[in-house]
Amino acid sequence: MTVRILQFGTTGQLARELLGQAKDFDVEITALSRAEADFADPAAVVAQLKAHPSDLVVLAAAYTAVDQAESERDLAFTVNAETPGRIAEAIGAEGPALVQVSTDYVFSGDKGAPYAPGDETAPANVYGASKRAGEQRILAACPRALILRTSWVVSAHGKNFVKTMLRAAGEGRPLKVVDDQFGRPTAARDLARFILGQAGRLAMAKAGDPVFGLHHFANAGEVTWKGFAEGVFALAYGAEAPSVAAGATADWPAPAKRPLRGTLDTADLQAAFGYAPRPWREAVAEIVSELKSLETSELGSAA
Ligand SMILES: NC(=O)c1ccc[n+]([C@@H]2O[C@H](COP(=O)([O-])OP(=O)(O)OC[C@H]3O[C@@H](n4cnc5c(N)ncnc54)[C@H](OP(=O)(O)O)[C@@H]3O)[C@@H](O)[C@H]2O)c1
Repeated sequence: MTVRILQFGTTGQLARELLGQAKDFDVEITALSRAEADFADPAAVVAQLKAHPSDLVVLAAAYTAVDQAESERDLAFTVNAETPGRIAEAIGAEGPALVQVSTDYVFSGDKGAPYAPGDETAPANVYGASKRAGEQRILAACPRALILRTSWVVSAHGKNFVKTMLRAAGEGRPLKVVDDQFGRPTAARDLARFILGQAGRLAMAKAGDPVFGLHHFANAGEVTWKGFAEGVFALAYGAEAPSVAAGATADWPAPAKRPLRGTLDTADLQAAFGYAPRPWREAVAEIVSELKSLETSELGSAA
């Protein structure tokens, strides 16, 4: 059966990968941009949901500006909690299955070990609090919802750590990177392919199936941002990789507090889906080579 997916969001990292990878799966995606469904306007989004019947709704639109959220609390909560909540309420028990993506920032980072989905949440910033409120609204309203918490999302597109680091190295800037925050990098493509690969099962599964509820998705391997940067440089430059100095979170005062170790434990994914995410280095190697080929084709077209 071809799964009819209604996707909110077209331009973000996850949204682009869902659209780009869909050809490998038995799915048909209708994707709505911010202009067509602005999450700052919950009623308009719910109207679109009703206008596009589907088997599975995937939310790939979110307020993701972590520092800006500290001064835009209302907007962050509308986009990340109110609108997803209203979508879940409109879907209820009878509508399509729902996939929402959430974040490791729902955790304080103080546990001293990776977090399982059932662990207590205690967001350290407005963004994390808004995403947690969205989780709660969805879980309360929709028994066929899967919430995938993920972390440190990267891809060849959009704004992300891999691109920022390669740009800094390319400009020959001195490289100093935070070495006291731990997490698990995640390729948007791996997350997208997981969602697309499970679409048929999610569309058919009944309420109470273990695929629904809270799960964690992140590529394998815990690392600090400095370790992540070194991994990216090793993949991009091999023996010529620039060296990276260790910084502390306190060296970069920012409006939003970050969890120091919000690392996600993904054992639940194996139990519910029989799926084990691959090591982040493998996934990031693909991003680095994609960026290199994009660069080559841009150079070619400029010549
Ligand atoms: N990026 C990370 O490191 C990370 C980590 C943990 C969890 N997550 C979660 O993973 C999911 C995907 O993240 P991502 O990295 O793909 O995010 P992203 O690249 O920042 O993309 C966000 C998307 O949301 C759209 N959007 C923002 N405000 C909107 C609004 N008012 N109405 C409709 N669309 C709106 C953006 O559209 P425009 O282009 O129009 O702005 C864009 O398509 C999100 O739920 C995020 O919370 C991300």
